[in-house]
Amino acid sequence: MKDKTSTDQIAIRHFWRLCTQHKRLFVFTGLIPIAGVGIGVVIPYLTGKIIGSLAVPGTDVAPYIIALIVVSVVTVVVNLVAFKNFFELQPRVMASLDNEAIDRLLKRGASFHNNRISGKLVSDVSDYAAGFMQLSNAFFIDTVPFLAVVVLGIVLVSVSSPLLGLVLLAMTSLVIASTIRFRRRMKPHRIARQAAGKAMIAHIADTTVNNQTVKTFGTEQHELARHGELASRLLWLRMNDWRAMAKDGAKRLSGLLLFQIAFVAVLTWEVHQNPALLATGIFAFSYTVMLSNRLFQIGNIMRQIEEALLQVAPMTEMLQEDVEIVDDPGAPELDAHSGKVSFQNVSFRYLDASSKDTVFENLNITVAAGEKIGLVGPSGGGKTTLTKLLLRFEDVTSGQIAIDEQDIARVTQASLRQSIAYVSQEPLLFHRSIRENIAYGNVDATDEQVLGAAKKASAHEFITKLPNGYETVVGERGVKLSGGQRQRIAIARAILKEAPILVLDEATSALDSASEKLIQSALTELMKDKTALVIAHRLSTIQKMDRILVLDEGKVIEDGTHKELLAKDGLYAKLWAHQSGGFIEE
Ligand SMILES: Nc1ncnc2c1ncn2[C@@H]1O[C@H](COP(=O)(O)OP(=O)(O)OP(=O)(O)O)[C@@H](O)[C@H]1O
Ligand SMILES: [Mg+2]
Repeated sequence: MKDKTSTDQIAIRHFWRLCTQHKRLFVFTGLIPIAGVGIGVVIPYLTGKIIGSLAVPGTDVAPYIIALIVVSVVTVVVNLVAFKNFFELQPRVMASLDNEAIDRLLKRGASFHNNRISGKLVSDVSDYAAGFMQLSNAFFIDTVPFLAVVVLGIVLVSVSSPLLGLVLLAMTSLVIASTIRFRRRMKPHRIARQAAGKAMIAHIADTTVNNQTVKTFGTEQHELARHGELASRLLWLRMNDWRAMAKDGAKRLSGLLLFQIAFVAVLTWEVHQNPALLATGIFAFSYTVMLSNRLFQIGNIMRQIEEALLQVAPMTEMLQEDVEIVDDPGAPELDAHSGKVSFQNVSFRYLDASSKDTVFENLNITVAAGEKIGLVGPSGGGKTTLTKLLLRFEDVTSGQIAIDEQDIARVTQASLRQSIAYVSQEPLLFHRSIRENIAYGNVDATDEQVLGAAKKASAHEFITKLPNGYETVVGERGVKLSGGQRQRIAIARAILKEAPILVLDEATSALDSASEKLIQSALTELMKDKTALVIAHRLSTIQKMDRILVLDEGKVIEDGTHKELLAKDGLYAKLWAHQSGGFIEE
């Protein structure tokens, strides 16, 4: 396991830097302990002086009363100013943290997201800012004022009575030290608790996303039982922690009470020796009661700090990791003037796959500018992977992919992806309106352009029949649309993009033959003057392409026009015979 201390330190340093960036807010927030000292030390001290002086007839108490009023007013004002600034500082830093987290998640590559459950990621992001809030509360509201009160109080008491000061110092140090030791001992439990909590969230997210599958297989009870196991583990870990905390609290309380008794004994003895010490004594005593109260709470404060650090740990660690795919410094923009695409000696293996699972080995494909290529082959042959490499969702293991003689790994990712209109095998939509989903292809598109693209993609008709037309919100990932409708929205989105290279991965697979024919003419129109790479299992879709490549186990095993491949009587001819029922269309 990674060293948690260093993660904690990184998080704390980072938060500190963000807080101090807001100079004015930070400085005024720094006044919080002053108010704390006013309430916790100066006011009890002055009250002690006033009451103490009653025992000495003829003492002028007026200055003390005036001081008491002044200090009270100042404390109230400082408190107000300090908290006003703190509550302005805190949400600002939280906003930066949210921003930083989402920015990183957006930049992380496919291999990162493929290995994560999105629901857990969402919880990591929200925990990041929430953890900071808890940590800053514990630090600014509890810890710093507490330390200020302790230090000042002990100093004030020691000035009048070093012996009483010593008793206080001993009590405070012992309680703090034993609490720190206790919390250290509890650390492995805390980490286990965090992991158990996250495992539970991951399971909830996974079952929610796959809710339909759960229903299909009637496995609600199975999932509930699985949740029960995870939940009871968390429950057990929490109870263990709280039980240990209760024990530690009892120990601390006994220690504190013992000290208080010792303190009263020393105080009685000292005042007996020197009645002038009564004032200090009264202050010291009220102070000790207050301090004991706080010291009793210290376990809780430390626990709050630890919980907060645990909350921010996943995101902190994620921010330490490198982003998979980054632009070279000063990388130029891709200039895709003609749209020639070439794969040169490309080898590729998914990062988490074993070395024998190489998808491509020294693959060479050249697509001339404006050429329309059909890509077919058995499932798992690497067709989709090929498109992912072209879009640089993954980097090639070796070799090079070039567009118009420019290595795609050396140009900016934004310019590369801007040059390619891509319809993926499983087009996913945003939980937003249809209009927004289509306009995603070009955020500056006018309503007319959106409408035009929808018409070309044969989507206009079904859209206008929806209850809210173009304003209909399509559900998470587009679940409220049929597969074919989703595909047509994705095609409309690609049409709107107007990129020189078009990549369609089974873009019309969910459409009936009649609808496909309708779209086909729009797609043919769209492909005009463009380089196109069209993947399809339904061979009629790609029959008219300039060239068809048959990809099997990462290798191009056949390459030619529909007619040439039929004449070759290889895999393509076999697939064609299957699909056309033996009838070979002209
Ligand atoms: N993210 C991934 N991580 C690891 N392996 C992967 C990943 N995606 C795909 N693969 C593997 O790479 C190989 C090629 O998959 P790919 O999706 O490119 O096939 P395909 O030709 O598009 O198949 P289909 O016709 O079914 O869409 C498969 O063996 C698959 O299991
Ligand atoms: Mg595929």
